[in-house]
Amino acid sequence: MDTANGVVAGADAITVALSLLLFVVLLMLAATSACGRGPWTVRRQLGTATAVAARTAVLDGPAAYPVIGALHAMDGHQDKPFRRFTELSHQYGPVFSMPMGSMPCVIVNDYPSIKEVLITNGSKFGGRPNFTRYNALFAGDRNNSLALCDWSWLQETRRKIARMYCSPKVCSSNYGLLDSIASDELDVFLESLAAVTVRGSEREVQVKQPLMMASANMFLRFMCTTQFEYGDPKFQNLVRIFDEIFWDINQGYAVDFMPWLRPFYAGHMRKLSNWSTQIRKFMMDAVISKRSSYARAVAEASNGAGDRIRDDDDHGANDGQEPTDFTDALLMSLQKEPRLKMDHVLFELEDFIGGHSAVGNMVMLTLSMVATRPHVAQAIRDEAEQVTGGQRLVRLYDKPDMPYTEATLFETLRIISSPIVPHVATENTTIQGFKISKGTCIIINNYELNTSPVYWNDPEVFDPNRFVHHKPGVKPCIRKPEYFLPFGTGKRTCIGQQLVSGFGFVLLAGILQRYEVMATAQMAIPEARLALPPDTYPLILRPLDGSRI
Ligand code: HEM
Ligand SMILES: *[C@@H]1O[C@H](CO)[C@@H](O)[C@H](O)[C@H]1NC(C)=O
Ligand SMILES: *[C@@H]1O[C@H](CO)[C@@H](O)[C@H](O)[C@H]1NC(C)=O
Ligand SMILES: *[C@@H]1O[C@H](CO)[C@@H](O)[C@H](O)[C@H]1NC(C)=O
Ligand SMILES: *[C@@H]1O[C@H](CO)[C@@H](O)[C@H](O)[C@H]1NC(C)=O
Ligand SMILES: *[C@@H]1O[C@H](CO)[C@@H](O)[C@H](O)[C@H]1NC(C)=O
Repeated sequence: MDTANGVVAGADAITVALSLLLFVVLLMLAATSACGRGPWTVRRQLGTATAVAARTAVLDGPAAYPVIGALHAMDGHQDKPFRRFTELSHQYGPVFSMPMGSMPCVIVNDYPSIKEVLITNGSKFGGRPNFTRYNALFAGDRNNSLALCDWSWLQETRRKIARMYCSPKVCSSNYGLLDSIASDELDVFLESLAAVTVRGSEREVQVKQPLMMASANMFLRFMCTTQFEYGDPKFQNLVRIFDEIFWDINQGYAVDFMPWLRPFYAGHMRKLSNWSTQIRKFMMDAVISKRSSYARAVAEASNGAGDRIRDDDDHGANDGQEPTDFTDALLMSLQKEPRLKMDHVLFELEDFIGGHSAVGNMVMLTLSMVATRPHVAQAIRDEAEQVTGGQRLVRLYDKPDMPYTEATLFETLRIISSPIVPHVATENTTIQGFKISKGTCIIINNYELNTSPVYWNDPEVFDPNRFVHHKPGVKPCIRKPEYFLPFGTGKRTCIGQQLVSGFGFVLLAGILQRYEVMATAQMAIPEARLALPPDTYPLILRPLDGSRI
């Protein structure tokens, strides 16, 4: 954890805060395997709200003090906050109160209560916490972000525009585009690996960087109809910055909960807004400024919003043209929805391009899982061989026939327990009958959901087959239990799921068709965090003998 550059000097007065810095690795972090068994593990009524009518009063939880709230309860468990939440839930129950610094927080630990927060009463929990870092990343206003904003008409509008492009139907032309883009970029990526590996021998390879660039190009091709050379320093810088942000956003910082620490984090906040400015500059220079739809949108805006008189046809300002891609659709939406501003649209595009960091990190982690489990890699190869006849690389359209490969991605997300973005109650409401005040931050213990023996057989075992439905006489297919929520669920569910399982699938299968992947001694898989540091461990690659493809 980056403990804010400025914190060190002469800080006697805030000794308490400094020790807190160490253990507030909170939110999106820590901990795989090992899961406590306690009184709550007997609650097996998945999906059925337990009888709660009689409960009223205040939620139980560790004692809270001024300034630090109940953060002291994390003491000694800084690096594994979600495991700690699980422990505390054995003491205080599946829903407990745990103020973090000055922020009222409730930790929700089992499926019935998580379901209430995300689905049945989701409309009352649609906010996000007002962390300073979130604001710093989005020009001072996290409402510019899709994942970190509060719920509003703007979010509804943005999600609608995104859905068509980010969740295309399997038979649509956009899905066909995803398929061909994934395959084209896979070729480029495998060529870049071929340049640093040698037939017949093992090589230590920094896989993450090319993987991030392949993923970035898949997104840029799909959303902006453009792509870049892996050797292009500006492109390398863009991919690096997105990865730095992804890493940062997956950390917890004391200042998130104790805004009075802000002066000590000024340098860090400047760095965040510097990154965001650099991304904007790249996108403007390399993508947006070349668009005729951009020129039209700018002209339209300068004509005066109050005077939007157009030609007397009803085609709007684009002469009835269909948008050519997501970028175009976003720019054209400015004319259809006057309340949308250029900045909204540009941030939305950047947000979605940034999704590539999640995909790259996920594939890197999946390769890491597979590196020490050669039987999983072999099962993926066998599945690929069956579907392609060993004559070609796997492509997106093969996915329905390769459930084990897709399941390997899901099993990685389960074992890693990638966290769910915190929610905030937008009105006074209840969870399991307990009173929750407006403004309370709700932390969802996805780790407990993913690793508890209440929900999984042998939860510590990496077994993709738990997500594959085998039935005699029927083609095996993916089966996800309803309590498996790596992408959240409900009104703020992840919009990128199809891109994740689509591009992730093609990258994973493609690498394993060409290479044996092995671990290096440096390999260290994080706990309850989907992000690896931007500079991370290498993997060992060995080209497969006799590969015909
Ligand atoms: C392995 C990759 C990914 C995982 C595990 C993941 C997971 C999540 C989770 C847990 C949430 C929060 C859901 C909630 O609050 O209930 C979320 C939100 C979101 N994700 Fe993803 N995501 C991934 C990749 C992506 C990609 C590639 C994109 C974009 C193309 C994306 C776009 C979004 C957006 C826009 C939101 C915010 C939705 C909202 O707050 O209304 N995600 N994601
Ligand atoms: C949210 O945080 C910002 C600092 O990042 C602060 O300026 C603003 O007042 C906060 N808003 C609310 C509603 O607390
Ligand atoms: C963000 O959006 C919410 C919902 O529309 C609004 O209540 C809040 O004031 C906005 N925050 C800022 C800083 O504009
Ligand atoms: C970001 O920081 C770098 C290094 O400190 C600096 O060279 C660059 O000018 C800054 N860029 C912006 C847009 O602030
Ligand atoms: C919400 O509940 C708090 C006490 O928990 C109370 O002070 C406040 O007035 C309530 N707000 C609304 C809008 O009912
Ligand atoms: C949703 O919240 C309301 C209070 O805001 C509560 O009365 C109701 O029982 C909750 N519904 C469910 C299904 O949990």
